[in-house]
Amino acid sequence: MVGFFNLHDTPGSTEDYWLFPFFIDKSYQRNGFGAAAIEELCRHLKENQPDCQLTRLTVHPENDAGVKFYTTLGFTDDHVLTYGEPTFSRCLRGGNQQQGYRS
Ligand SMILES: CC(C)(COP(=O)(O)OP(=O)(O)OC[C@H]1O[C@@H](n2cnc3c(N)ncnc32)[C@H](O)[C@@H]1OP(=O)(O)O)[C@@H](O)C(=O)NCCC(=O)NCCS
Repeated sequence: MVGFFNLHDTPGSTEDYWLFPFFIDKSYQRNGFGAAAIEELCRHLKENQPDCQLTRLTVHPENDAGVKFYTTLGFTDDHVLTYGEPTFSRCLRGGNQQQGYRS
């Protein structure tokens, strides 16, 4: 196994798509597998969940590599804490703008 992730979602919702955890085995890191998995996940959501507007995840505040990884892939910091961790999101449609889900 190269890596592992879970997608927690509510089919038919527009914003309830959460990605965690997301791991690439240490011996396979920095080979593009993580980026390829994220792009494939987003492609899958666009094709199979037409209502889905964005996907979200959290990153431990001290995980600089994780933050760099996600921001490189187009995720932006929502400046919202979820279970005490910074929340990042990536819009799947209409550019990479926030969709106003913060409530
Ligand atoms: C973060 C993680 C998922 C990245 O997976 P990966 O397959 O190694 O990432 P990729 O090779 O696809 O990297 C894509 C880009 O992300 C960035 N990146 C990835 N790992 C990085 C690191 N350790 N430090 C800095 N930037 C990093 C780079 O810009 C990289 O592009 P480059 O290699 O051309 O410079 C992986 O290191 C991991 O599983 N870490 C432990 C768990 C974790 O932190 N998960 C994410 C938070 S929940």
